[in-house]
Amino acid sequence: MKDYEKDYYINGIVQFDAAKELIDLLPNKSIDILDIGCGSGRVSDIIYQNTTPKRMIAIDKSKDMISEALKNYPLKNIEFKCSDVVDINFFEEFDVIVSNSSFQWFSDHEKSLGAIREALRYDGRLYIQTPYKIRWCPEINNMMDLFFEEAFPKLRKEFKFPCMHLETIKEYIYLFETNDFNVEEIYSKTFTYELNRNQFVSVFKSGALKAYGNQECFSTHLPNDFNEKMIEFVNNYKSEEKTITISMPRVFTILSKNNLIL
Ligand SMILES: C[S@@+](CC[C@H](N)C(=O)[O-])C[C@H]1O[C@@H](n2cnc3c(N)ncnc32)[C@H](O)[C@@H]1O
Repeated sequence: MKDYEKDYYINGIVQFDAAKELIDLLPNKSIDILDIGCGSGRVSDIIYQNTTPKRMIAIDKSKDMISEALKNYPLKNIEFKCSDVVDINFFEEFDVIVSNSSFQWFSDHEKSLGAIREALRYDGRLYIQTPYKIRWCPEINNMMDLFFEEAFPKLRKEFKFPCMHLETIKEYIYLFETNDFNVEEIYSKTFTYELNRNQFVSVFKSGALKAYGNQECFSTHLPNDFNEKMIEFVNNYKSEEKTITISMPRVFTILSKNNLIL
């Protein structure tokens, strides 16, 4: 997807906004921090500025995201590394592990939580912010339903959204507890934004496009003009209105290791 990584720095409006709330939950003393799914580094940098850690590593599975992060933050106070979360291979090295808007994209949550648990110190904490619910942004979901219906009606049933969006807090608690974490705190909050057209398109490009524009999320071959038509549709969606209001339910958690498990 051309320019996705380069543009994420400006398009990630809603992810950066939710990150502020997650960062407020972090301890502000000097600690060792790992940021998982750091993207192009903007949130990692804010975490660094707010907590001034002794050591901070930020990883992302995308080579292109890591090269953007290194361009944006060349000072080397944060070590940016390309790795999938399942391959991090750290043993009890971090007091704090953070995942802002990346958890939903992990492909194997059991393995990922296992690798994170290994990397956390005995008394460490894992802080996660993730969008949730199958209709994770009802306004974008409705728009895409309309797009499929009007432009590519046969393709709707061939599409599978690649992220894990559980429906209830209870399901998240079950996921964490069955993967040997204690849930210290968990709550949901719905963020609402009144966006102008450019901001709306940016928000779409920061996440949804990565799913709807990805051939791998379809069980049939996409027509050549699919992405072009989709972007055109998004650009013109509700064109008679000056602003578009969207809402995004998100889950925030603070987790500790269940050290009773051997
Ligand atoms: C929406 S971006 C969030 C970036 C940043 N944390 C923020 O809040 O702006 C999600 C990032 O998670 C990364 N990611 C997804 N799955 C991953 C995995 N299994 N291991 C490491 N990074 C992953 C993606 O490459 C992407 O850069």
